[in-house]
Amino acid sequence: MKRLLFTLLTLSLVGTTFADEGMWLPSLIAGRIDDMRSKGFRLTAEDIYSVNKASMKDAVVLFNGGCTGEIVSPEGLLLTNHHCGYGAIQSHSSVEHDYLTHGFWARSRAEELPNEKLYVRILVRMEEVTDRIASGEQPEALIRAAEAEGTGYKASIEQMYYGNQQFLFVYEQFDDVRLVGAPPSSIGKFGGDTDNWIWPRHTGDFSVFRIYADRNNRPAAYSPDNVPYRPKRHFVISVKGIREGDFTMIYGFPGNTQEYILSDAVDYVVNRADPDKIAIRTGRLDLIAAAQASDPALRIHYAAKHANIANAWKKWQGEQLGLSRTRSVETKRQCERDFQLWADRHPEYAGLLSAMKAEYARMLQPYYAYEITRETLGTLPTAYSNEERSDELFERCRPTEQALFRHAFASYAAYCPEPYRIPEFLDGVAAAGSTEAYADQVFDGLWQRTDTTAIVRLDKAKKRMLNHITWLLGTTSLRNPTSKRLNELYAHYIKGLREWDTVRAFYPDANLTLRVAYGTVSGYEYADGEYHTPQTTLDGIIAKDNPEIYDYDIPQALRDLYASKDYGRWGISVDGRRTVPVCLLATNHTTGGNSGSPVLNGRGELVGINFDRTWRSTMSDIAFDPAICRNIAVDIRYVLFVIERIGGAGYLLDEMTLR
Ligand code: ARG
Ligand code: GLU
Repeated sequence: MKRLLFTLLTLSLVGTTFADEGMWLPSLIAGRIDDMRSKGFRLTAEDIYSVNKASMKDAVVLFNGGCTGEIVSPEGLLLTNHHCGYGAIQSHSSVEHDYLTHGFWARSRAEELPNEKLYVRILVRMEEVTDRIASGEQPEALIRAAEAEGTGYKASIEQMYYGNQQFLFVYEQFDDVRLVGAPPSSIGKFGGDTDNWIWPRHTGDFSVFRIYADRNNRPAAYSPDNVPYRPKRHFVISVKGIREGDFTMIYGFPGNTQEYILSDAVDYVVNRADPDKIAIRTGRLDLIAAAQASDPALRIHYAAKHANIANAWKKWQGEQLGLSRTRSVETKRQCERDFQLWADRHPEYAGLLSAMKAEYARMLQPYYAYEITRETLGTLPTAYSNEERSDELFERCRPTEQALFRHAFASYAAYCPEPYRIPEFLDGVAAAGSTEAYADQVFDGLWQRTDTTAIVRLDKAKKRMLNHITWLLGTTSLRNPTSKRLNELYAHYIKGLREWDTVRAFYPDANLTLRVAYGTVSGYEYADGEYHTPQTTLDGIIAKDNPEIYDYDIPQALRDLYASKDYGRWGISVDGRRTVPVCLLATNHTTGGNSGSPVLNGRGELVGINFDRTWRSTMSDIAFDPAICRNIAVDIRYVLFVIERIGGAGYLLDEMTLR
């Protein structure tokens, strides 16, 4: 009886997978299909993933190695996010043709713009090869054999559960991907950094591309002779919309999660790394923002830099807030104590946790030094290019650049732990008299090009120190240890966790392989008594519209449409007012890499394009809290509305299948 009670207790503490948590492997989705169907999914596991017939996986692409996209026509038309296509859009932009500002719409196939180095991958198949590798087959040989199966085939072997299982992934890679259309940034990036990671949201974060293939529909390098790719499958688009409580599924390539890390690592993230990295970035952002506010040309000059720094800066704040709020460190510690009670009776696991904790104790300080060095000295330029120098803005950047040097040097001196400080840095400070004087000296030499030995010397010394720490640790990532020792321990730990807890539904951490996440359209209680509903509309855009503020200055065409209420088939009625749907909130478990992922309804029809999470819910990389964890998508009806009514590119809708 006592034993039973104990088991029940531990089970309730650890719990099963909470509703909507999880990023599932498509080839194993049959194991989840009953749960999916109970939540409103109407199709079968074979519809999601099949090697024998066309399935949804044939319409999902890994977009340029870091985002997701979906095929929406029999002629290879592809949707992804504006922020995923940003580089391509920017590369075609000039002062005369400023596609970032004004948008771009190819009026014919001939006007679709090729992009050097832009590629997409479609999954041909995935296959567990754990046993084959265990019985002596060489991973490289498996990869080579798979790549020989077809033109443009790329293969890789990916570890699941820290190597407890290995999967072979075989992709078809297409290198001729052309830009078809993009909304103006005032729609595609509406709200900018201010609204980034925030709900309610009103960003039309989409762009349109097309995959091209050779005349035999095979992958080929760019050629004017290439023709639109004919996919095995494209997504049907639902224009009926979706409402709170409806099933949603996300099919895409989440990059990186750490759901099984020990409390020691979570504690480090929440109480040490996140706060210090945030503080250092706050200083950098303040300096850049001040420059931007003082000079409109500098606002543009520093825009991308600011956005980059701010994206993770804001994410970390949300992560820290979310993890502390739910006391994740405590919960993990309790779970470890319970696991230990079980492990004490299973000799194979008895010493495991203490071995892992000892390894963390060894690693934490040097790893912290590694992170701090990269966040400070690692952010500094070691040269300014001739192009930058010839820009008339160059001199106007000087005070800001110098201030960034001072800030990086001061932060490094303040945060980097003693034994890992770069000796050359300490020498430099001593010789110059102060950290600030040393920063000025290094900066002046670099800026004037009178004496670049100081920056070169510092940079070399920095690299040496980082290499030293890497050697010491055997890893450069505490969250995803590649250190042989820690990785082996984790592999063993996960095995133990799965033997100990037979109720929890385990899923492997995200690793940029194709996954299915499912949940429902859902608002949430943002604060006491403040419920956020899961759909935003054009009225919210108009409420934020402000020609004085760059990020909220919408195109005149959108204002005109709002005034005339001429929404055509895209108009909906909300509480009696006529408007257009814009963004959606749902409970799907996503992370970086899921940008651009198709959001599908219970019939597998496209209802939105995923592009963000709420900042406090980014904690789901480590621990999923169903109360607040939400993903943000742009409603597909807004995408179509913008293409047709703002872009005047309604002809693109003709090749889609709308339902
Ligand atoms: N937060 C989103 C992601 O992590 C969007 C980032 C791009 N948008 C921006 N305003 N910086 O990728
Ligand atoms: N904006 C993120 C992207 O790249 C997705 C947001 C998230 O779920 O973390 O990939």
